[in-house]
Amino acid sequence: MSMVELGVNIDHVATVRQARRTVEPDPVAAAVLAELGGADGITIHLREDRRHIQDRDVLILAQTLRTKMNFELSCAAEIVQIACNVKPQQATLVPEKRQEVTTEGGLDLRPKSQELLNAIAALKNSGILVSLFIDPDDQQVHLAKELGVEAIELHTGQYAEARGQEQLSQLQRLQHASQLANDLGLKLHAGHGLTYQNVRPIAAIAGMRELNIGHSIVSRAVLVGMKEAVREMKLLLNTP
Ligand code: PXP
Repeated sequence: MSMVELGVNIDHVATVRQARRTVEPDPVAAAVLAELGGADGITIHLREDRRHIQDRDVLILAQTLRTKMNFELSCAAEIVQIACNVKPQQATLVPEKRQEVTTEGGLDLRPKSQELLNAIAALKNSGILVSLFIDPDDQQVHLAKELGVEAIELHTGQYAEARGQEQLSQLQRLQHASQLANDLGLKLHAGHGLTYQNVRPIAAIAGMRELNIGHSIVSRAVLVGMKEAVREMKLLLNTP
């Protein structure tokens, strides 16, 4: 079995800092510790409203990360331009609403909006690997392939929220969409709502390359430290 990579989303380290508009905790320090704990990449979402990650964080992380940066962004031209300047190894396009507490669902690729096409083209032209965050639906996976991106990130939020039989059927839905992505030659990522309790069936999906996990790791890091929290999650991802 090939290794499942762990992308540690450090947005909520910045959320704590922004709660006081101060300089601590610094997501740059959190990223160093996450890498020392075994993170394969660091994920940050520069939101249009700058509620957590700031432009300064992106610029410093671009110079200091020793692993890879997965830059999450909406299709807004201003943010796409920042990504093209910073040139992270990977960019994941997500839907973004100002009122939401967190990303609420995958991108709907059906409209093939000009904004989306422009964002994909600009990021690809800058040599950035483009991933699309989508719900685990066949139609969305096919559309991602048609749009010419290299990777998809399947939204695991509904799986994470479901319980019992419903959780099992959400898992099957993810397994099915993953199989299709594998068949189409798309790189397979997943994330949202994953925890130490629910991550293992997702990590075990055939072809899974990368999981992006934020809230649960940062929450544990408050109690046990970032390095230890990442080490524990990394162990779960690759224990058969
Ligand atoms: N993947 C994507 C595309 C996201 O938008 C988020 C949340 O920012 C995550 C993964 C991580 O979700 P969580 O914080 O629930 O682990």
